[in-house]
This record gives sequence, C-alpha cells and structure tokens, in this order.
Amino acid sequence: MDLILSVVGCGYLGATHAACMSSLGFRVIGVDTDPDKVAMLSRGELPFYEPGLDTLLAQEMKTGRLSFTTDFSAVADADVHFVCVGTPQIKDGLAADLTYVKAAVAAIAPYLKEGALVVGKSTVPVGTAQSLRSELAQSAPQADLAWNPEFLREGFAVEDTLTPNRLVVGVANDRAEEILKEVYEPIIALGTPWIRADLPTAELVKVAANSFLATKISFINAMAEVCEAAGGDVTVLAKAIGYDPRIGNRFLQAGIGFGGGCLPKDIRAFMARAEELGAKQALEFLREIDAINLRARQRVIDVVRSELSEDLTQYKIAILGATFKPDSDDVRDSPALDISAQLQAAGATVVVHDPKGIEPARKRFPSLQYSESVTDCVKAADLILHLTEWREYRELDPSVLGPLVKNKIVIDGRNALDRDKWRNAGWKFHALGRTD
Ligand code: UDX
Repeated sequence: MDLILSVVGCGYLGATHAACMSSLGFRVIGVDTDPDKVAMLSRGELPFYEPGLDTLLAQEMKTGRLSFTTDFSAVADADVHFVCVGTPQIKDGLAADLTYVKAAVAAIAPYLKEGALVVGKSTVPVGTAQSLRSELAQSAPQADLAWNPEFLREGFAVEDTLTPNRLVVGVANDRAEEILKEVYEPIIALGTPWIRADLPTAELVKVAANSFLATKISFINAMAEVCEAAGGDVTVLAKAIGYDPRIGNRFLQAGIGFGGGCLPKDIRAFMARAEELGAKQALEFLREIDAINLRARQRVIDVVRSELSEDLTQYKIAILGATFKPDSDDVRDSPALDISAQLQAAGATVVVHDPKGIEPARKRFPSLQYSESVTDCVKAADLILHLTEWREYRELDPSVLGPLVKNKIVIDGRNALDRDKWRNAGWKFHALGRTD
C-alpha cells in the first residue's frame, strides 16, 4: 500500500485503529503525548485489556510497519492522519471537553504535507468538524479535514474495526471520500455498507447511535421497574418483545444499566450541544434516559437493604464484577463500582472481585477492598451481588460457594445468572425486574 497513515492519540480507540490499519498493510505512525504509553506500545504491549488486540499489536510490531512515538514531527510522512483522542465530559457541566481534539489538530498542523487529510474519529459535538476544518484552512491550507466516526465496542474492538457493520465518512468533497475509500478498500471489499455524509451528519450519526442504544437499555430498565411493581418478569418480557424484528432482542438486558467511557458522557454532551443549537426540547427525553439509568443503581441498593437491613454496618457484601461490562478492564463510570462505593459509604464491608479490572478499580476507589479470587471474596459474606456478567461468574457452582458464605443470598444485577441453578443449591435469589 502506498498511503502512510498516522494515528494521533493512542488510547483505546487509537491503539486499536493503529494496529488494525497496520494489519491491512499500511505503514502506521502512532503519536501520543504520554511517554509511558508510547514505551509500552513500542514494546508491543497493550496498556489496557482488550481480547485479541494484544496479539495483533505484537504481531504488527514485528512487521516493522507500525511504530509509536511522542514526537509529532514523525507524522510528516503520513498522507492520512486519524485523530483518536478522548473527549471526556467537562468537570462542571454536561458538555464534552474538546481540549484534546483541538490540541491534536494544532500539534500536527505544522507537519501536514500537501494534500494531507486529517480524519477525526473522536466523538465530538456536532459542528466541531466544520470549525476545525475552517481553522485548518488558515493554519495548514494544503490539507483537508474529514470525519469518520467509530462504533467499536470494548471487548470487540478488533472485530468492530476490521469488520464493522458500516463505514460512515463525513466529507466536504469527493477527494476526501476517495482517499478514505483507498484506506478502507479491504473492508469495503467485504461488502461493508459505505455511507457518505456531510460533516455535521457524520458527527451526529455517532451520538444518535449511542443515544438510541442508551434509550434501549433504559427502556428495558424502566420496564423492569414496572415489572417489579406489577409482579412481572422483565426477562420474559424482553424475550417476548424482542421477537418482533422491528424491536430486536439485542440491548434489552435489564439490570444495573449502562456505564463506560461512551454512552453516559455522549448522551450528556448531546443534550448540552442541542441546547446550544436551540434544539433543547428535542433531546429532553435523554435526561430521563440518564435518570432511569442512574436509578437502576439505587434500586439494587434498595434490594440489598431490604434483604439485610437499613443499617448495613454489620454486613459483609461480596461484589462480583468491577468493570462496566465483561471482557474489558475499563472501570470508567462503572455502575458496579459506583454501587460498591455507595454500599461502603453506607457502612457495609465491601469486597470486590473482578477477573481483569481490579487494578484500574483500585486506582479509582483505593478505599474499597479487593480480592483476587471469588472464593476469598465471598468468604463469610452476608450477601453476594453480581454486577458485571463475566462468563466465569455464570459458570460458578453455587453448591461450592454455599458453605463459604454466611447467608446464601445472591442478587443478580445483570440478569445473567441461572436462577434455577442457584435456587436448587439452596440460595435465595433476586434479580432486578423479576418479582418471583
Ligand atoms: C458503546 C457502543 O456500543 C459503541 O458502538 C460505541 O462506539 C462506544 O460505546 P461500549 O461502551 O464498549 O460501546 O459498551 P456497550 O457494549 O455498548 O455497553 C454499554 C453499557 O451498557 C455497559 O455498561 C453494558 O453493561 C450496558 N448494557 C448493554 C446493558 O445494561 N444492557 C444491555 O442490554 C446492553
């Protein structure tokens, strides 16, 4: 391949994109301001857990096509520059912090060669791409800018990058589209739908998709609340409505709700941006989606109190799961950790287990107790709270755990455990949205 690519920002998205683009045969230069991250990646080691990406990274480093540096001048050779930096929520509001995106574009601007294309992948408020493009027209008129949102899910990052269910490019002209078609040619050849949009639409596609997903999850969690009030079973309800292809059965898993680095902050930033644009009313429903989501965390705590006591000070609670979802070590805005911290603040002794997330969790919540093994975690517990649906928790044998705990009570915050299996082993079993 002739094109040389740069990837600016080598976090979760950037490291994945860099390794995947290298695997398509491109020379890829990854740049990041964090020297520790660059050193690790340069050794072929991943600074976070993502199934399959560790092997891909190590393999691509051996080819010599992939390199990482803190030196921004290294991007001078590249034709296409993917901006993959974070856009976290601002400290004092709902909006997205664009500092890193602006800094990334400014940092590469002096090194852009004639005809270079800067391609934003970060999730940004609508209008950002257009304003960055106008700025670039001043600082680097020889270059152009496009937007190419990513939809990758943690745990499936490689698969979602190399075999995405669609490619969306926001471009201002045919040339930018042609360059992106050249980059993604092997993926397009698989029959992947290609959607050309203008810049604002491409930005909106990403936040609209995440808002829809968040809405689906909060919808089923709202149904869980109603099921609890009416004596129904949300898992049966979800299965039954999911057979309608217009509804579909994915993302209807009721439980403690969504977390992570994307869904919560994206819906909030979307609301903030809509308000700036004078379209506040259109997204008012997202406020409710957020509220339902946060309420799910409270509901599980209510079940704990009703099982143990209003005063939790005498009780030990074993928490299974710290990450915001399984197959990830990401604990950003993790409902599991939020619940753990709230229970601890209420006076309970809380011990947390997670197959991959203990270290990141400890950094965020150093005062919680952590345990490397499920057996230690549940020892003498008054109650087990299942909060992240790792496979290893589904495979636990409740009859083996029974003799270890003080009280055989389990609360399934993810509707993922086999209720009959636990009950048959003598456990009191509760799940959110299931009254039986
Ligand atoms: C999400 C989007 O799916 C992805 O397309 C986008 O690029 C980034 O944000 P991710 O954050 O990896 O991906 O997680 P996702 O799989 O969407 O799950 C988000 C949260 O929702 C998790 O906390 C998960 O536990 C929760 N969830 C998901 C539910 O509570 N119920 C469900 O049915 C599905």
